[in-house]
Amino acid sequence: MKRKLVSVLLTAALSMSLLAGCASESADTAAESAAPAAEAAKEEAAPAAEEAAPAEEAAAEGQTIGIAMPTQSLERWNRDGSYLKDQFESKGYTVELTYSDNKIDQQVKDIEGLIADEVDLLVIAAIDGESLSNVLADAKDAGIPVISYDRLIMNTDAVSYYVSFDNYTVGTLQGQFVIDTLDLDNAGDAVYNIEFTAGDPADNNAGFFFNGAFDTLKPYIEAGTLNIVSGQSEFDKVATAAWDTATAMERFQNILGSYYSDGTQLDVALCSNDSTALGVTQAIESDYAGDNDVIITGQDGDVANLRNIKDGKQTMTVYKAVANEAVATLDLGIALLNGETPDANLISDSGWTFDCAYDTASYDNGTGIIPSYLLVPTVVTAENMEKELVETGYYIVDSEGYLEAQ
Ligand code: BGC
Repeated sequence: MKRKLVSVLLTAALSMSLLAGCASESADTAAESAAPAAEAAKEEAAPAAEEAAPAEEAAAEGQTIGIAMPTQSLERWNRDGSYLKDQFESKGYTVELTYSDNKIDQQVKDIEGLIADEVDLLVIAAIDGESLSNVLADAKDAGIPVISYDRLIMNTDAVSYYVSFDNYTVGTLQGQFVIDTLDLDNAGDAVYNIEFTAGDPADNNAGFFFNGAFDTLKPYIEAGTLNIVSGQSEFDKVATAAWDTATAMERFQNILGSYYSDGTQLDVALCSNDSTALGVTQAIESDYAGDNDVIITGQDGDVANLRNIKDGKQTMTVYKAVANEAVATLDLGIALLNGETPDANLISDSGWTFDCAYDTASYDNGTGIIPSYLLVPTVVTAENMEKELVETGYYIVDSEGYLEAQ
């Protein structure tokens, strides 16, 4: 009972901090808030590895993991920080978790602080993949291994490994969803209008997402079945600084005003993730003259977007089980702390119950290929939401039938 109450209070705290735009960037609140979900995900993901052996815990004692997350204002990073903290603490490590308010200088300072604190391992989701070379040279000098978490850190040989989802596949899933939903292979002479919204150019992932979607849809664009009415087909034109919802909304309002105010029908808004999809959905609600259902894609399964999917305002999201990403990072981190050089065997040796590929070809950070562990994303729609997100233990259904963080 008591535990249930704590869970409810903590979930409420997480929602409030998200609603408030997370002005405070207080790492502790979010970490505690998602802790119950982290537990569930851990049980889900790695039942065999659940209990740390006493010797393992003893080894972990006295070792500290420095985790640098970008911001609490984009929902998923609250989950990532919490899951990572929970995973490493469950094995006896001390964790220092920082959030840097999406400010590059702040993240550099935060990492400097972690190095000064003599952490034993750094796990970093970069705000700007290009801006950490100097500080990570210091990490390398101090002998601290670095895991590039979710986003590849560029132009530094201090990065040992990369853990993420297959980012290109996220985009192909979005593109394929559009093909299937509109049955583009049997479209005949029909022409559907589409606009793209991509992510932050400072985030190495953003290009992968966009290219995955664009490459998948390109044959239909070239055949004239899909028409980009604005003509904005290049990543630089459709990118959204900081993945910001308001920025995506304003750009889309301009597009609707300039190209669709004469009654032209918009059929698809291909958005790379949920924070941008939220802005695009708001723009469509406020500024679109048509009354057809626009197909809107997303990524992450943010609570506000799952709400919109249930209400028919967004069509799909690509879900990435970040609880599993944290489990993969934990096992990789332990191997590195043990002085090992992990490879594909880490996947079978760890007994993960989720799919993961070891990739030594796709991610070059400018200093060479960074060996990568890539997890597999899933399409979520109103139809499969309960099966994929509730039955798997990631979310619970609230009294109104909407999903909320576990
Ligand atoms: C992550 C996405 C997320 C985006 C904005 C990307 O690096 O992979 O899951 O939507 O950042 O937070």
